[in-house]
Amino acid sequence: MKKTIKDYKLKGKKVIIRCDFNVPMDGDIIKDDNRIRQSLKTIRYARKEGAKVILLSHLGRVKNEEDKEKNTLKPIAERLSKLLRKKVIFINQTRGKELEEAIKQMKEKDVILIENTRFEDLEKNKESKNDRKLGKYWASLGDIYINDAFGTIHRNHASNLGISKHLKSGIGFLVEKEIKQLEKLTKNPKKPYTIILGGSKVSDKIGLIKNLIKKADYILIGGGMAFTFLKAAGFKVGSSICENEEVDFCKELLDKYPDKIILPIDVITAKEIKKDTKTKDRFINEIEEDEIGLDIGKKTLEVFKQYIDDSKTIFWNGPMGYFEIKSFSKGTKGLCKIIADSKAYKIIGGGDTARAVIEMGYEKNMNHISTGGGASLVFLEGVKLKALDIINEKK
Ligand code: 3PG
Repeated sequence: MKKTIKDYKLKGKKVIIRCDFNVPMDGDIIKDDNRIRQSLKTIRYARKEGAKVILLSHLGRVKNEEDKEKNTLKPIAERLSKLLRKKVIFINQTRGKELEEAIKQMKEKDVILIENTRFEDLEKNKESKNDRKLGKYWASLGDIYINDAFGTIHRNHASNLGISKHLKSGIGFLVEKEIKQLEKLTKNPKKPYTIILGGSKVSDKIGLIKNLIKKADYILIGGGMAFTFLKAAGFKVGSSICENEEVDFCKELLDKYPDKIILPIDVITAKEIKKDTKTKDRFINEIEEDEIGLDIGKKTLEVFKQYIDDSKTIFWNGPMGYFEIKSFSKGTKGLCKIIADSKAYKIIGGGDTARAVIEMGYEKNMNHISTGGGASLVFLEGVKLKALDIINEKK
C-alpha cells in the first residue's frame, strides 16, 4: 500500500498536489468538469488539515505560443474557486519571482494554482521529458508532494515523477480510489467477467487484451475497432475504419479464443459521417463497398445484453459508435442502459466513455468511472508506472 496524504502532518506545510485538470474545453468554456470535481476531496482534506495548497496540472498539448492561449488554466482556477467556495489564487507562470513571492505570502488553507505545467514544453519539452532541473525547482516550492493526477499516472513528467524524486511523497484520495477500483479488474475479479471494448483503434487496446484475456470470460467488441476484427473474421467492411496492420493479431485472437471474443452481428452504416445523413441497418455480411460502419445495431445489443446480464464484473472502455452524431449514438446509449441495469460490479474507463455515461445520465448507476483514459488502459496492461512506483510503500 502506497503512502497517502493521510500519512503526513500537513499543518502549516506547503503541500504540492499534482492534479489532472486536463478537461475538455471549448475556448474558455469547460465542457466537462468531472476531473476537477474528482480532485476536490484531496484539496479539501489538505485545507482542513491546515496546509498551504499549491496545485499543478497540465492542460492539452503545448507546442507553440498560440497553444498557450488556448490552454491556460485560468478558467480552471475560476471553476475550482466556485466548487471549493474559496478563492483560488491563479499565478500565470510556471516558475519565477511572482510565483515564489505568492507562495511566500501564503497562509494556512490558501490555494494557489500555477499555470499549465506543459507551458514548459515550449523549451525542449522540459515538462514532458521530465527535465531534472525543472522537477527539482518545482519540488523546492513545497514541503510535501501529493500525486492525485490519476489521468497522468502513465506519463513520466517533471511535475509527477520529477518532483517525487526530491520530496516526501504520497498519493491523494483519487489515485488511491482509482487503484483500488481498477485492481478489482486485475486481481481475482468476480466471474463471469466481461470486458466491453470500443473506440476506433485496436492498437490502443492490444496491451490490455493481452494482459486480461485469460482473466476475462468474454470480450465484447464494438466501435470502430470491431471492423478490424470483422475483417480478420473474413467479412467485407466497406469503407469502415480498419487497421490493416492489426488484422493478423485479431485473427490469432479469434482462432485462439473463438468463444470469448464476441463481435457485432449487425451495424448501422452511412456513406458519410455527418448529421442527418441516410443510414442503413446492415447484417455484417451486407456492408457495401462505399458504406462506413458507424454504430453497432439492435441485434448486436441484444446479444451483448445476454452476456452482460450474466456477468458479475464488467469493464467498459470505448464508445460503440460515432456517438457525437445522434444517428450513430444508439449503440452507446443502449449499452449504457444495459450496463446500468445489470447487477454486476461496473467499472467504466476512458475519457469518451466516461463522458458518454455522464452525459447520458447513468453516472450514478456505475460503481466506478475512471478519470483516466490512457492511464486506465496502461494500468490494466499491467506495465510499470514510474510516477506511482517512486512513491514509497507504507511501512
Ligand atoms: C489524459 O487526458 O489522458 C491525461 O490528462 C494525459 O494527457 P495526455 O494524453 O495529453 O498526456
